[in-house]
Amino acid sequence: MQFASRLIHNGNEIDKTTGALSIPIYQASTFQQNDVTQPQEYDYSRSGNPTRQALENTIAILEGGHRGFAFASGMAATSSVLSTFAAGDHLLVCEDVYGGTYRVITTLFQRFNLEASFVNASDHENIRHNIKPNTKAIFLESPSNPLLKIIDLRAAAAVVQEYGLSVIVDNTFMSPYFQRPLELGADIVIHSATKFIGGHSDVVGGLVVAKDPEWSKRIYAAQNCFGAILGPQDSWLLLRGLKTLKVRLDFQQKSAHRLAHWLLAQTEVEEVFYPGLICHPGFEIHRQQADGPGAVLSFKTRDQATALAFLNSVKLAAVAVSLGGVETIISYPRTMSHAAMPETQRHHLGISDNLIRVSVGLEDCGDLINDFAQALNNKLKPLSSLDKVYNYRL
Ligand SMILES: Cc1ncc(COP(=O)(O)O)c(C=O)c1O
Repeated sequence: MQFASRLIHNGNEIDKTTGALSIPIYQASTFQQNDVTQPQEYDYSRSGNPTRQALENTIAILEGGHRGFAFASGMAATSSVLSTFAAGDHLLVCEDVYGGTYRVITTLFQRFNLEASFVNASDHENIRHNIKPNTKAIFLESPSNPLLKIIDLRAAAAVVQEYGLSVIVDNTFMSPYFQRPLELGADIVIHSATKFIGGHSDVVGGLVVAKDPEWSKRIYAAQNCFGAILGPQDSWLLLRGLKTLKVRLDFQQKSAHRLAHWLLAQTEVEEVFYPGLICHPGFEIHRQQADGPGAVLSFKTRDQATALAFLNSVKLAAVAVSLGGVETIISYPRTMSHAAMPETQRHHLGISDNLIRVSVGLEDCGDLINDFAQALNNKLKPLSSLDKVYNYRL
């Protein structure tokens, strides 16, 4: 079955006991045990809950993994995966990682002596060069947040697998519709399901998919011991959100293409970052590993004052933390998603004071462009022949 059909029909969409076409919200903390000498499928909701289970099975199918796990947030998912490592282990982490992941690694996990090196993972020799005898895994994000930098996931996985290391990929920006890291060599996929998977800016959640039974065992132990599970109501919201993932993303991506191209022509805009643009440095690699560039882009305005004026002037788009919702959400990484990153590191990565991130929603794209135009004073500049968007499958 194609992805669109698997979103709707994957064996987890019908309630086994009633036939309901929507999995009920099993709002129960505990379950009657009929024979205490025999283990039952469910005993206590931290260990397993039927609504959460339906979601976990669904994401495992969509990512093509062995088993899925649902957590209370994307950070709970990331932290639970990181908790499977031991004091003294070393991790390689791509330097463009999400600010919250950077923070948890450099503060909380550092206190437990989990070592980490932040590396430019687009450079494979650099990955190899940073592997130490105690390195256990690499943590990657592609496209990165907020500059949409691309890492060749297949190549990075191939390098570290020579050393027997595991590969963890945060796939939040793509969702399984556009990119399936397990097919590219990853062992674990993480999502902030708060974003495209939920899709409606009404739930905070995280998902993990493990490739094989060994990793599933380790992650289940972390989920059950640490206990940062997703509740049944929120599991149900994610199940509902997933059903429309493809239609939402098709529409949002189409508008993102149009907006990226329009932004390139604005005098007040210095640079546009979107993997669907042929001029994007990671364009070719992204095209080989993903089925679309997605619905997030970022751009640099002429200066910080222009960026702040734009943020103050947009009317239709929301200025907010987060992305992936039905509404267009604009954020200012310097004080929002990457506030936790030290200024020197931020500047080293190019997360400058004039950078704006846009998560394109489901509004009419013409209305969005009109809104952006009034906020940027609508001055146009000529385009070069490379300033084109590639036609993925619009
Ligand atoms: C790429 C990425 N990973 C992880 C997270 C953390 O997810 P959550 O906010 O659901 O904890 C975010 C949040 O913005 C993110 O953008």
